[in-house]
Amino acid sequence: MKALVYHGPGRRAWEQVPDPTILEPTDAIVRIDSSTICGTDLHILKGDVPETAPGTILGHEAVGTVVEIGAAVTTLEPGDRVLVSCITSCGRCRFCKEAKYGLCTGGGGWIFGHLIDGLQAEFARVPFADTSVHKVPDGLSDEQVLFLADIMPTAYEIGVLAGRVEPGDTVAIVGAGPIGLATIMTAKLHTPGRIIAIDLADARLAKALEFGADVVIDNGTEDAVAKVMELTGGLGADVAIEAVGVPETFELCTELIRPGGRVANVGVHGSCATLHLEKLWIRDVMITTGLVDTSTTPKLMKLIEGGRLDPTVFATHTFPIADTEAAYDVFAAAAETHALKVVLRAVPAGHELVPSEEQLVGV
Ligand SMILES: NC(=O)c1ccc[n+]([C@@H]2O[C@H](COP(=O)([O-])OP(=O)(O)OC[C@H]3O[C@@H](n4cnc5c(N)ncnc54)[C@H](O)[C@@H]3O)[C@@H](O)[C@H]2O)c1
Ligand SMILES: [Zn+2]
Ligand SMILES: [Zn+2]
Repeated sequence: MKALVYHGPGRRAWEQVPDPTILEPTDAIVRIDSSTICGTDLHILKGDVPETAPGTILGHEAVGTVVEIGAAVTTLEPGDRVLVSCITSCGRCRFCKEAKYGLCTGGGGWIFGHLIDGLQAEFARVPFADTSVHKVPDGLSDEQVLFLADIMPTAYEIGVLAGRVEPGDTVAIVGAGPIGLATIMTAKLHTPGRIIAIDLADARLAKALEFGADVVIDNGTEDAVAKVMELTGGLGADVAIEAVGVPETFELCTELIRPGGRVANVGVHGSCATLHLEKLWIRDVMITTGLVDTSTTPKLMKLIEGGRLDPTVFATHTFPIADTEAAYDVFAAAAETHALKVVLRAVPAGHELVPSEEQLVGV
């Protein structure tokens, strides 16, 4: 088969590799029908994730079709269409029993395209298949469910739920990339009073308005703290969600929060951020952070099925999976291409039409 292989910092190639095989009785082999690229894949390519060994196939988000199951797999059969999520669950360890799958100590957690071969490939070996994949309800397209593999549950669990967004709250979301926009989308499930999106890029702020932000602030040209204070009678936001991953934006969140408010950090930080306890200790602020568990994926899937949530708007570009390298270039140049998520589609996908020329060049 062919797959996108990481060859060390700055080097990747779509190339011929051996087909995956069942290694454990709990494995399944899945034919990848649609996959996508995450900002974390770009971090790996920069060399920021040293535990990912050269030779690893990248990718941790896909929708596919089961083609083979191990002897111990009981709930899946060949032909089943499944969402393969960024988090794998052994189903047995203490953390999996608490639905904290991201912390799995039984060999799961974030392993695809990180510690084992990933999903930007024609086929993939999926460990702990029974407890890790989600069957896709009939009638839902790949694009409707693909973003449940990572950005939707991440934004909902680590942003909205950890930040305890309540009806009427003023929610400030710093960063309007795919994660920040998914946070806007899922915060709306809790009927906040007002959503404020903060970013440096005007194109991203325009997207934030499309996704349902009420107010946008360009913190490159405006004083975001002063603006939030002005909007909240001098108190600050009830909830601030960090969706960038740099020290300034974490510190900004702690400055624009009201006394008794909640800061939920979603961003992955590569360097040290300062926690100003000398200012915060007296303000009763709650700060949370974490890796996604994907425990809310079934709930989000039901909301999509019921027509209450539509993540297809994230798909700005579609490529045949064989053009994954070109897709990386478009995704990495988001400032110019305005890419949010690129869909990598197997051709032919088996159950969907081959995309037209128009779709292939993106929107
Ligand atoms: N916790 C988790 O489980 C988890 C899972 C997936 C992704 N993440 C992390 O979430 C973060 C966001 O992901 P993404 O894919 O949306 O990233 P992205 O890079 O596409 O978007 C980040 C946005 O932040 C904006 N930005 C950059 N610097 C800023 C600043 N100083 N002030 C305001 N805005 C600024 C950019 O313009 C961009 O729109 C990343 O750090 C990613 O690694 C975390
Ligand atoms: Zn990811
Ligand atoms: Zn586990």
